[in-house]
Amino acid sequence: MHSTIFALCLSTILSFLPPTAAWGSLGHRTVAYLASTYFTPESTRFTNRLLNGQDISEAALFPDKVRHMPQFAYSRGWHYIDAQDSPPQQCGINMTRDCVINTGCVVSAIANHTGRVADPSLPHYLRGQSLRFMLHFFGDVHQPLHTEAEDRGGNEYEVAFDGRRTNLHSVWDTLIPHKYAGTGHDDEFVAAWLWAQRLSGDDDVDDDETRLEGECLHDAADCALSWAREANSYVCSHVLAHDVHGQDLGGEYYQGAIPVVNEMVRKAGRRLAAWINFISANYTTTTDDAGDLDVNHAIQIQ
Ligand SMILES: *[C@@H]1O[C@H](CO)[C@@H](O)[C@H](O)[C@H]1NC(C)=O
Ligand SMILES: *[C@@H]1O[C@H](CO)[C@@H](O)[C@H](O)[C@H]1NC(C)=O
Ligand SMILES: *[C@@H]1O[C@H](CO)[C@@H](O)[C@H](O)[C@H]1NC(C)=O
Repeated sequence: MHSTIFALCLSTILSFLPPTAAWGSLGHRTVAYLASTYFTPESTRFTNRLLNGQDISEAALFPDKVRHMPQFAYSRGWHYIDAQDSPPQQCGINMTRDCVINTGCVVSAIANHTGRVADPSLPHYLRGQSLRFMLHFFGDVHQPLHTEAEDRGGNEYEVAFDGRRTNLHSVWDTLIPHKYAGTGHDDEFVAAWLWAQRLSGDDDVDDDETRLEGECLHDAADCALSWAREANSYVCSHVLAHDVHGQDLGGEYYQGAIPVVNEMVRKAGRRLAAWINFISANYTTTTDDAGDLDVNHAIQIQ
């Protein structure tokens, strides 16, 4: 399975060079590839079918690609939950306060799309779309600054990184993962694949633990909320532990962040796999769906 995906990556790279390290994507691709290393054969079939054979790391980027399109405007609030807490003194998420009722948040979106992926009465292309949302939001809910309202999740917190002016959100979304796992060649598929291999090789978690994460599905919202809380606690312990306005974060701060980033990416990938293993074992896809609209086709004509 691994070599198949890798061959697919290489052929994809030949036909498509990703735009310059506009990340967010390296982390999301890694979570998706990592999850695929824990897939049961049913999960591999299930995801291949719902994604119409699309590379899983590419599918995970879909929600970022569509969120600025008017017809997907409703999905913009699903990428985060804005905890109105007081870091670094006090971190915490309160669903009533922090999950916007009309637009939803990453916690409610994970619950919604989990239900939709598993719903055989939905058309194939909508289940495929919901799977793409899930692949993506499992990454987002494990990024500490996607669970924080302060300075719009760090977007308005000015810092530097290795001599470049930037903001704290980009440091966590993009610059730390790129410095740590990027190849320097813009080969994002390869960088993500190698990072996923490294994390999966380091992982001594047994199958029982992975299955337990799947049990969480019984209350998807509660489960996603506990993950958001875990990520949010890192806002107090690491991300905003000290005032770093205007500082260059490429040194000591970066070193301190690596274990956090590795842990959260690993958890996101393993939890994602557990859910898909659970869903694919318990809910099937239909085979007579060849006539359904392919969501990627719909995107490409934009
Ligand atoms: C959560 O927020 C709501 C609305 O602001 C508030 O009424 C409630 O007391 C909060 N719950 C906790 C446990 O703080
Ligand atoms: C669930 O997702 C569907 C499809 O994206 C969307 O139309 C619907 O509004 C969502 N429901 C909630 C409660 O978020
Ligand atoms: C399928 O669902 C059952 C009960 O809901 C659960 O015990 C089982 O672990 C699930 N299968 C997998 C592979 O997760």
